[in-house]
Amino acid sequence: MRKILVTSALPYVNGPIHIGHLVEYIQTDIWVRAQKLRGNHCIYICADDTHGTATMIRAEAEGCTPEEIIANTQKQHMADFAAMEIVFDHYGNTNSPDNYAVCVEIWQALRDAGLVREKNVTQFYDPEKKIFLADRFIRGTCPKCGRENQPGDSCECGTTYSPTDLIDPKSVYSGATPELRDSVHLFVEIEKLHDFLQEWTQTGDHLQSEIANYLAGNFLCDALRDWDISRPAPYFGFEIPDAPGNYWYVWFDAPIGYIGTTRTYCAKTGEDFDSWWRDGSAEIHHFIGKDIAYFHTLFWPAMLKTAGFNLPKKVHVHGFLTVDGEKMSKSKGTFIRAATYAKHLSAAYLRYYYATKTTGRAEDLDLDFVDMAQRVNADLVGNLVNLASRTAKFVQPMGLSPQYPEDGGLFENAVAQYDTILAAYEAGDFAKVTRLVMLLGNGANKFVEDAAPWVLRKDPEKQRQLQDVCTIALNLYRQMVIYLAPILPNLAKETAELFNENASDWTFESIKTPLVGTSLNTFKHLMQRMDTKKVEDIIEETQAENAASETKNADPWNDSDEALKNEPLADECTIDDFAKVDLRVARIVMAERVPEANKLLHLTLSLGGDKRLNVFAGIKAAYNPEDLVGRLVVCVANLKPRQMKFGLSEGMVCAAGGGGKEVFLLAPDDGAVPGHRIH
Ligand code: 2FM
Ligand code: ZN
Repeated sequence: MRKILVTSALPYVNGPIHIGHLVEYIQTDIWVRAQKLRGNHCIYICADDTHGTATMIRAEAEGCTPEEIIANTQKQHMADFAAMEIVFDHYGNTNSPDNYAVCVEIWQALRDAGLVREKNVTQFYDPEKKIFLADRFIRGTCPKCGRENQPGDSCECGTTYSPTDLIDPKSVYSGATPELRDSVHLFVEIEKLHDFLQEWTQTGDHLQSEIANYLAGNFLCDALRDWDISRPAPYFGFEIPDAPGNYWYVWFDAPIGYIGTTRTYCAKTGEDFDSWWRDGSAEIHHFIGKDIAYFHTLFWPAMLKTAGFNLPKKVHVHGFLTVDGEKMSKSKGTFIRAATYAKHLSAAYLRYYYATKTTGRAEDLDLDFVDMAQRVNADLVGNLVNLASRTAKFVQPMGLSPQYPEDGGLFENAVAQYDTILAAYEAGDFAKVTRLVMLLGNGANKFVEDAAPWVLRKDPEKQRQLQDVCTIALNLYRQMVIYLAPILPNLAKETAELFNENASDWTFESIKTPLVGTSLNTFKHLMQRMDTKKVEDIIEETQAENAASETKNADPWNDSDEALKNEPLADECTIDDFAKVDLRVARIVMAERVPEANKLLHLTLSLGGDKRLNVFAGIKAAYNPEDLVGRLVVCVANLKPRQMKFGLSEGMVCAAGGGGKEVFLLAPDDGAVPGHRIH
């Protein structure tokens, strides 16, 4: 029995799980389930990647703590994965005490090995938000083509540059013009491990050949650049114990999260941590996208090697998802969240379709929903489930034949595929698995058609033969389902129930022995055809979600337009018209009720010095006079005095609102003083 620890890349806490992520989590989950069905002790470890400026900024914007964001997102991510039948042995987050402990350990090892040094870094700084800005948080005009609002590292025109080359750079957080500032960062001198990395990446089979070549051609051909692994405060992350005021960069503690999360798993299960990460008795397998191959095949092995942890047995790199041949797009509604998908369509469809397109190579995978519906309907409904739905009912009253009947070699034919199918799983070539299993299904369906149990059923003399035919068909179905169980775990579970078995007792070996003499449970419909109308619903819903989140981003306050509707804008006026009204800051120095008037308070306003205005204001329902004394307000200071029943009114105080209790006096910002004119 092999001990195998498997990970997927840790998803960032600052976004939902979408169908692009699922390419990876589904294939990892399939691989893990296949290992478990082989009887290996295989665990699947994952966590949310929590640190970095983005989490800090989002917490600030939402008025909560980063820890609250982490807890909420983790719940959401775990629900999304569960809806897609993706099951982890442990799912944690990188902001955990266990992860901190491992970070400290690895950091100390890097220090002890003399690999850490300080260097000065000049970087853009947002003077309003008071944070240093990573390149992608700066936008400006491309120095080459003049396109506006381009990211800090590259333009749509294909030019790459440094953020300091941008014309009119702005911080995406505040819109402020960033300033260049110096700070000291800590760097890992990874070049000192060049020989080790050359050897590790270019020999053995830790990496797919295309990845090994990419590293050799782009990085290992030169000296490796020092890796900047610290960020000065403020930063949301772990503070570096021997460099107070500095934090480990998120990409330092993220992969360490694989180990930190295993520690938590071991504390939960009582397993021995060293047997997973220290003593070489376990295989470590990482599944990642090609965009982060660099971190996982250079920095990560360098860190593990230095700190004496097990190195990965294999880094499995996959390509990106395209939808209808294009990148996922928000406006086209193809940036589909896992939760939205799962609301409308069965997880089994996507799991199977992705499996048919997963080859174990680092190539992109295209999702074409029309093709997906055809595949699912032909393979899963028409081929696989059809075997059971055409036979289970007929044999249900009598159960399976007491002995496995002669089937012309069909059962043995499926047994003969055992090694090939298991090897395809091992290689991550799930496309091959599905092809081979569907071929078995073709043979089985042909057998059922030839034997025509629906005809036998009508002949009382042929009930024994009917039982045999159905016993064969259902056993062939069962073999296929067990072979596909890593891809279709829910179908496996329901199929096991049909046979009065428990799917968790199945191993791949279970395909080798036919099931005989057992009664069957009531046949339930196992799978429906995929309806492409549901895809339209998903796309529409995704577009609506994106539109809602864009409005929210553009206008986070989302104010009602009721006030404006109640009182539409007045006719245009000129600046000269406006200047005729002399608005001033004033202090209320006296306020009293006018007993005879329902609505009025009598105020004395000071404009500074001994300039006073006597004012009757209709704010009695909204304010107590005693709360007003001393307050600064805005008043119309040159209003023609008006004789009222209670005295002379020499001005007006400015207030917003619809009247009655809904009256809100305007107050100037700190620093204004009585007499200041309002322009
Ligand atoms: O690229 C990403 O989404 C990162 N959050 C992946 C981290 S993988 C590992 F290093 F933790
Ligand atoms: Zn450009």
